[in-house]
Amino acid sequence: MPPQAGPQPEDPASDRTARTGFWLVGARGGVATTAAVGWSALTRGLIGTTGLVTELPALAGAGLKDWDQFVLGGCELRPGRLRDSAAEAGIPPALIEACAADLDAIDARIAPGVVHNSGPAIDELADEQADGGLARRFPTPRAAVDAIRADLDRFREQQRLERVVVVVTASTEPPTDEPSLPPTWDELNATLTSTDCPLRAGSLYAIAAIESGAAFVNFTPSLGASCAAIDDLAKRSGVCHAGRDGKTGETLLKTVLAPMLASRNLEVMSWVGHNILGNADGRVLSSPEHKSSKLGCKDAALQSLLGYSPQSLVSIEYVPSLGERKTAWNHVHFRGFMGVEMTLQLTWQGHDSALAAPLVLDLARLVDASAGRGESGALGALACFFKSPCGAPLAGHSEQFAALLAHYA
Ligand SMILES: NC(=O)c1ccc[n+]([C@@H]2O[C@H](COP(=O)([O-])OP(=O)(O)OC[C@H]3O[C@@H](n4cnc5c(N)ncnc54)[C@H](O)[C@@H]3O)[C@@H](O)[C@H]2O)c1
Repeated sequence: MPPQAGPQPEDPASDRTARTGFWLVGARGGVATTAAVGWSALTRGLIGTTGLVTELPALAGAGLKDWDQFVLGGCELRPGRLRDSAAEAGIPPALIEACAADLDAIDARIAPGVVHNSGPAIDELADEQADGGLARRFPTPRAAVDAIRADLDRFREQQRLERVVVVVTASTEPPTDEPSLPPTWDELNATLTSTDCPLRAGSLYAIAAIESGAAFVNFTPSLGASCAAIDDLAKRSGVCHAGRDGKTGETLLKTVLAPMLASRNLEVMSWVGHNILGNADGRVLSSPEHKSSKLGCKDAALQSLLGYSPQSLVSIEYVPSLGERKTAWNHVHFRGFMGVEMTLQLTWQGHDSALAAPLVLDLARLVDASAGRGESGALGALACFFKSPCGAPLAGHSEQFAALLAHYA
């Protein structure tokens, strides 16, 4: 391959035909940091592949890139070092040490993040950093989009990347006023120069990614690209996207158990889920405005899976002593033959970031393959990874998993 013009890559052996960049938004958060350590440990052969869906034998022929064909970068509001975020996320010190060189290299590629209409808890997070931290603010959404695009273009050029996948793992934003959004990209685009535009930073990252030709993944409950106008932009641009809100624990159980109960013609009368967690995500979600985005995603499944709406309650409480160890208790009250009442109770105790990080890596790898195949618009085949999938109706997990294999295997 002839030498490329422009900035030189960090690795002179790098090959534009082979490498894809993952741009992690919220790069020093628990999920992104665990994904970064996991990616480094995989490329160094330090860990196995348990927890990675793309390492299942069924996907061996999917033509996915190897882990060492990816380069990580991203943006953040918080200064600091990935090594320290990894320690906060409870990753063993020996593993952090073994991956330290990779983490330092990623740190050097972390740009300041963009805060725009992001809600009080994210404003507080940005404001509490010394010297204003890394947050950038812009007078209009269009100015913010252009600045993010410049970061992505720089990443692509400096690392000589064939493709870029932007993955949002930033703190959850409050809900966006979706009914006020126009249905087409031309109409939405016209509002980006106005301060009245209701879009939040998570959607501006989506627009910037798509405009720059990068595929987009929204791992958070924030709106991201999940509206008609941004999907319209993606389709017109020939860019694919996937979202919304990674399905890692309680909702994974719901999408397995609700179809099971329905297939036995058992009548669910109520489904109550109480969640307690103590990490930084839990702190942001303790703000009622931010929490309502998460509750909306968690509560959406039952009507679609059962065909009716039982009484349903989901709560999320911040308990700092728990750190990453999230506990979800579910109480399902149902009725069987002759009206006999029964109860299913279960407790899920997960390490939040260890559940989420492999899915982030899987998603980036699969979306990269879709981008390579020239797919555009919402990737419904990835629904099994999300609580509120875009591009596919909500369905049971086994149905969603079959769709994944049918598309990629
Ligand atoms: N099991 C899971 O952990 C799980 C499952 C599904 C979804 N999620 C979602 O993933 C996201 C990340 O979770 P986490 O536990 O890593 O949270 P976290 O609070 O540890 O990390 C989020 C990071 O995003 C940064 N950030 C916030 N706004 C930003 C912006 N506008 N630009 C750039 N950076 C920004 C914060 O500074 C923080 O470092 C959350 O939205 C969470 O709801 C997590």
